[in-house]
Amino acid sequence: MNKQLAMALASGILGTSILSAVHAADPKPQDVVEYRKSVYTVIGWNFKPIGAMIKGEVPFDAATVARHAQYVEMMSKAAPEGFAKGSGPDAVKNTEAKPEIWTNPDKFKTAMSNFQQESTKLAEVAKTGKEADIKVQFGKTAETCKACHKEFKKD
Ligand code: HEC
Repeated sequence: MNKQLAMALASGILGTSILSAVHAADPKPQDVVEYRKSVYTVIGWNFKPIGAMIKGEVPFDAATVARHAQYVEMMSKAAPEGFAKGSGPDAVKNTEAKPEIWTNPDKFKTAMSNFQQESTKLAEVAKTGKEADIKVQFGKTAETCKACHKEFKKD
């Protein structure tokens, strides 16, 4: 594959993966909100138990951490589709998403991509089973949750 083609493909893939992602079925704004909340519910569901182990609230179990971390990584890649245009607070009621997601898309894309990168690393580190390293990477990933919520999610 030549370099230009490879780059075109890469930019196409990255370009559609964040915000501009269009779902083939053209879902209603309300469905988009349900989808993104579900994605974040699954993210929280899998992220919390890793935190509990790191804090020593429950015994550390490497296999469990690795499994949960894999789901967080997968869901980080599923999240962008949940922010399709027209699914903001002006169109739907039951959302905590701030309008800035759509008025400042570059900043939002950066926040999303930081999260995706750190959760990918978390899934990798989790496979090693090294608790100290997992702890560090968990912290870095948690920072990306907080950073995005601070800017783009209502309390
Ligand atoms: C790029 C931005 C972004 C990142 C990164 C992010 N979130 Fe969120 N999160 C949001 C937004 C926006 C909402 C509000 C969605 C809505 O109400 O429409 C949300 C909602 C949630 C919810 C509530 C879901 C519901 O049912 O209303 C949970 C739980 C959550 N996030 C957990 C996390 C965790 C844990 C992480 C990190 C591992 C994370 N989020 C990373 C933007 C983000």
